[in-house]
Amino acid sequence: MKALVLSGGAGTRLRPITYTSAKQLVPVANKPVLFYGLEAIADAEVTDVGIIVGDTAQEIREAVGDGSKQGVDVTYIPQEAPLGLAHAVLIAKDFLGDDPFVMYLGDNFIVGGISGLVDAFRADRPDARILLTRVPNPTSFGVAELDGAGRVVSLEEKPARPKSDLALVGVYLFSPLIHEAVRSISPSRRGELEITDAIQWLIDQGRDVRSTTISGYWKDTGNVTDMLEVNRTVLATLPPGIEGSVDEASEIIGRVRVDAGARVTSSRIVGPAVIGSGTVISDAYIGPFTSISEDCRVEDSEIEYSIVLRGASLVGVRRVEASLIGHNVEVTPAPRHPAAHRLVLGDHSKVQIAS
Ligand code: DAU
Repeated sequence: MKALVLSGGAGTRLRPITYTSAKQLVPVANKPVLFYGLEAIADAEVTDVGIIVGDTAQEIREAVGDGSKQGVDVTYIPQEAPLGLAHAVLIAKDFLGDDPFVMYLGDNFIVGGISGLVDAFRADRPDARILLTRVPNPTSFGVAELDGAGRVVSLEEKPARPKSDLALVGVYLFSPLIHEAVRSISPSRRGELEITDAIQWLIDQGRDVRSTTISGYWKDTGNVTDMLEVNRTVLATLPPGIEGSVDEASEIIGRVRVDAGARVTSSRIVGPAVIGSGTVISDAYIGPFTSISEDCRVEDSEIEYSIVLRGASLVGVRRVEASLIGHNVEVTPAPRHPAAHRLVLGDHSKVQIAS
């Protein structure tokens, strides 16, 4: 069995965060979303992985390399433009050959991994197995309609009037029959070759398409609230460990990871929290559910329930909460306006001035 991971496309939804970087590299507990996917694939004992890359190819290659850190062996497959999920399958045919495969969208986060799903597929060998989850906003997803016996009857991409609240999660299992399906469909109204249309083609051919419904799922919908929430969930299970330096004047409480090369002085960190390597925390308070990436500086500041990306600094600010701070951002206090009061006061006046 092989895996096809989709990390092409242009990051638009998490703007401004993804103006300059791939959305698959947005970190959760200081680790790119894509790495969780690759590790889940390795855990399911699939090691031969093709990664579809687009405009952000260089960044993805720099982050993932040959995949050995995630326990997989990566082949990069360039896609000239984001022409659709089924187009990605089309151009990966040489890599995939006649093997069954798992297709994984690189911006999806699945709590609990995919091993159970892959094992079920290996055992039953249907033509396709899709993953579904109930969502409050089905119009933003592919939506499945099931019959009374739980079989997939129809699929529709981002329907205006969804037939259910069951959204397609970005993990799909396919037999090699999908290659015929992706060759048989035409681009949709938005100009993409839709994987939902390819799966619908299988259904229309009377093929065996099954589904599994899961609950722990997140996708970078561009919603910062959701991102903070998934960061919170992952931090809550993070193995603690102090590998960087923490001085005597600092206090570390609860589940905290301080990576090698990080330095904490005269500060208080209340976990769960993670501090990336090269980061300096001094005279600061870091509160629960906070991820500070590599090479940041938090000085004379207070922050909690937030994500701070690589190279950012907070100096002299309190208190920052529920925030997403981008790469190399500088946060400092606003300069005080010159406090000048121009007064013409009569004799014996009494004034109170807030200074
Ligand atoms: O996340 C689940 C949803 O993913 C499903 O419910 C939808 O049915 C499915 O079409 C897809 O919808 P999105 O519009 O949210 O997909 P997005 O454009 O965000 O692309 C998903 C991933 O695939 C992302 O990592 C970028 C990558 N991609 C996308 C396209 C269109 C490619 O590598 N190549 C492409 O041509």
